[in-house]
Amino acid sequence: PPISLIGAPTDIGAGHRGASMGPEALRVAGLAAALAARGLDVVDRGNVAGPFNPWLPPTDGYRHLGEVVAWNRAVMQAVAAELAQERLPILLGGDHCLAIGSITAVARHCREQGKHLTVLWLDAHADFNTSAITPSGNIHGMPVACLCGFGPQELTGLGGGAPALSPEQIRQIGIRSVDAGEKKLVRDVGLDIYDMRYIDEVGMKRVMEEALLNLGPRDHLHVSFDVDFLDPGIAPGVGTTIPGGPNYREAQLCMEMIADSGRLGSLDIMELNPALDVRNQTAMLAVDLVESLFGKSTLMRD
Ligand code: ARG
Ligand code: MN
Ligand code: MN
Ligand code: MN
Repeated sequence: PPISLIGAPTDIGAGHRGASMGPEALRVAGLAAALAARGLDVVDRGNVAGPFNPWLPPTDGYRHLGEVVAWNRAVMQAVAAELAQERLPILLGGDHCLAIGSITAVARHCREQGKHLTVLWLDAHADFNTSAITPSGNIHGMPVACLCGFGPQELTGLGGGAPALSPEQIRQIGIRSVDAGEKKLVRDVGLDIYDMRYIDEVGMKRVMEEALLNLGPRDHLHVSFDVDFLDPGIAPGVGTTIPGGPNYREAQLCMEMIADSGRLGSLDIMELNPALDVRNQTAMLAVDLVESLFGKSTLMRD
């Protein structure tokens, strides 16, 4: 399908400043041209707007809740507008709290179209904190919980009704940092987590076979790609680096196998922080991986 790029230049949910520059760094790294070179129809819609970051400490377990809600409303509307035109939205973050708006829009579109939504959450973190258990108050550590109905009503009810997702619709890949209270919660809800230990033990190939099992023509796959999924040795440009992530080849295979599923319907590229990057290398790596996600391969394969 035709692709629309949507920038969301904010770090409103993060604990470091700088993810607000992510959209522009991805543009400078040539994202649109790389997709166009694959024969895809790509339009850059520019950036959505929202409140500036007041950089305040958390209150009642949330930092910047009001501003996070405003940004997520804007993102939800922008993503919904592209899906309504049968275009494939790529959200350029911005921090990962914005996946609440993005995935809420995708979930509603799938409901309306009778599609089954599966979310692949590529991340070092489970992002399943709540205000009661968060160690930081940063809402980028909470989007998956919010999408499943655990969180403040303004975010869990962003789409106007029931939570956007049930835990069975989510598969998390690359996880290696889960906070103490968060550990208990993800176990209680039964979240499907392919953590780094499992990737080490069985390999990325089998992990992706399992995560992508049984996808059919009625399935819409949403990929929420937190760039801190990648090993910090190859991807230093993120605020919350955790050692021991997928290496270049594992990450490529992950993207290639998603492409082979043929079910990709929407994408977030999140948490890129150019203030922490080295000569835009993390942005360029993200573009390289997204090319694979859209089917680039060395040889012709069938
Ligand atoms: N678990 C930590 C927290 O809640 C870190 C979350 C990092 N999330 C992210 N999207 N980078 O503060
Ligand atoms: Mn559609
Ligand atoms: Mn993360
Ligand atoms: Mn994340």
